[in-house]
Amino acid sequence: MSRPTRTIIEPFKIKMVEPLQLHDRSTRERVIREAGYNLFQVPSEFVTFDFLTDSGTTAMSTNQWSAMMRADESYAGSSSFFRFREVVQSLTGYQHVIPTHQGRASERLLFGEIIRPGHVVPSNNHFDTTRANIEHCGGKTVDLVIAEGLDPASDHPFKGNIDLGRLERFCEENRGSIPLGMATLTNNSGGGQPVSLENLRAVSAIYRKHGIPFILDACRYAENCWFIHAREPGQAGRTPREIAQEVFSLADGMLMSGKKDALVNMGGFIALKAGSWIDALRSSLIMTEGFPTYGGLAARDLEAMGVGLEEALDPEYLRYRVATTQYMAQGLEKLGIPVVRPTGGHAVFIDARRFLPHIAPEYFPGQSLAIEIYLNDGVRTVEVGSASLGKRDAEGAFVPPPMDLVRLAFPRRCYTQSHFDYVLEGLESVVARKEALRGLRLLHEPPVLRQFTARFEPLSS
Ligand code: F0G
Repeated sequence: MSRPTRTIIEPFKIKMVEPLQLHDRSTRERVIREAGYNLFQVPSEFVTFDFLTDSGTTAMSTNQWSAMMRADESYAGSSSFFRFREVVQSLTGYQHVIPTHQGRASERLLFGEIIRPGHVVPSNNHFDTTRANIEHCGGKTVDLVIAEGLDPASDHPFKGNIDLGRLERFCEENRGSIPLGMATLTNNSGGGQPVSLENLRAVSAIYRKHGIPFILDACRYAENCWFIHAREPGQAGRTPREIAQEVFSLADGMLMSGKKDALVNMGGFIALKAGSWIDALRSSLIMTEGFPTYGGLAARDLEAMGVGLEEALDPEYLRYRVATTQYMAQGLEKLGIPVVRPTGGHAVFIDARRFLPHIAPEYFPGQSLAIEIYLNDGVRTVEVGSASLGKRDAEGAFVPPPMDLVRLAFPRRCYTQSHFDYVLEGLESVVARKEALRGLRLLHEPPVLRQFTARFEPLSS
């Protein structure tokens, strides 16, 4: 940027537009009743601002769309694959690149090859699908995030860091049972918090000392590298790309969901330094995803992902990206809505238990708030708390999770500052009505992953 500014602008102009869906509250009241007070069941035509996830919801650039037009859709040896592989190789230094249709397909392939019953896999926090895929192969997952990472009020700049003392002990005590060690960048399940370069260097040294391959879950690698650039002493002079190259050099490979920091709507890959697992992975890939030069994707998806991986490291883009998340968090705090601090990269988490102390966790304060935010202005968020993670003990008593949060995750390059201002203005009415919110009762509970299909009903008093 040529001059210093206070206003951080969207560093793009808009070429194609998609109308917002605008409805009134009474329509939304009908829709949410029919959806069993579950936002996953609401058709998107009744959502005005969709903050359900940042995954696969990116707006693509002119360069991505034009790269898609040149795609070579040959079944074998597509030139699009070689272009894509070149981008990954030069960014990461990993020579072996396997495309897949999304992050969890990468997880299923890699863990299917490596994880056996009795194995344990450490990380800062494993994402849900990572955990599920490891457990599906008979392995166990262990979360070793630092204590500050579990405290919503802590302002530690790298709350995604791994506790090095615990990791060292864990590796000692589980010799021979750790087929790989991980770190999630940024730490999504811990609030999208970054991991510092210093921590990654130390984690890498511990894994190396114990002969454990280090595999990054690198979905949001660019946002993580921006936080290193912005927050870590001695890193301000390096570009996000230089930092990313060092980060990748510290590990032995990566799993990637391209739906985040490769700026695409669908796609993923595995990239590895060494070739030892490659033959087995390719056989499995051919059986379940596709030929090794396209994975589960069209060649045009590979083209878009290659361009997106580079665009995500543009400092102007990253400055804007992180500023939008901070802008929303500051706006919420000004309204008296408590959020998890400091703001992560892709999302803001509202502390619903603190905001609605009169609703006991068993009556779902997070879900109640998410529903009211939807009814108010058509803003779709997601509950991360008692509704999705609460359990019952042997006597049937409700056991709440540590926090009741509402996540606002922001699609990349989709919404503008005036959209955020409009949403914040609308939330004034939610604040004004908060005492009137009563909570919800669970009507129907499916046996697994209940957040997607559970049905609720509002309590009347
Ligand atoms: N790892 C992390 C850290 C993720 O956040 C996700 C997806 C995955 C792996 C799986 O990737 O969806 O392409 O199969 N996170 C999305 C979210 C769903 O909303 O946070 P995928």
